[in-house]
Amino acid sequence: MEEIFGYLIKDLTFTSDLAENSNRLLIKHNRTRIAEHSQRVAKKAKILARQYGIDESLAETAGLLHDIGGVYPNDKRIEISKILKINILPEEEELPLIIHQKISVIMSQQIFNIQSPDILSAIGCHTTLKAGASILDKILFVADKIEWDQDGLPPYINEIERTVNISLELAALTYFKYLWNDSSKLKVIHPWLADAYSELSKK
Ligand SMILES: [Fe+2]
Ligand SMILES: [Fe+2]
Repeated sequence: MEEIFGYLIKDLTFTSDLAENSNRLLIKHNRTRIAEHSQRVAKKAKILARQYGIDESLAETAGLLHDIGGVYPNDKRIEISKILKINILPEEEELPLIIHQKISVIMSQQIFNIQSPDILSAIGCHTTLKAGASILDKILFVADKIEWDQDGLPPYINEIERTVNISLELAALTYFKYLWNDSSKLKVIHPWLADAYSELSKK
């Protein structure tokens, strides 16, 4: 495990329950909002996994850990990413918020011993999605947007609840449409998001 993770888990007692452990880590570092959001996303991802016929436990694990990198504040994320030897894109340097998905991958591997490439892939693109996304990738992306981490209900909630019953691709597009409609939300366009959008909109 990376040395810098030592202080994160210092004095924490982990049990065999991942939901409990991820929750403890986030609460210890005063990330109550993320902790609560992650539990909701895990629950939603599990429901969507059942609906779309994939392993529910993979979806639940991905949901619980997707924002674990959010334990680091925005202004520390680039520094941490450099220590972790993460490939930092110019868009991420400009908007460090979006690099938490990559930090979450490494924390999931090293702190929580998650080695499933499927889970790690979903965690690693939950903010932006990516081209060639798997069903699990799309499920986590959509669950994260339905159970968002802001106050109140997302403005696109009715539309996404409707489209998610048609397909995960349409649900993802619902969210992209919301981003495009309010350019203030798009200070930076991550290349993975641009690729995912162009792929899905062609379908
Ligand atoms: Fe996130
Ligand atoms: Fe999230």
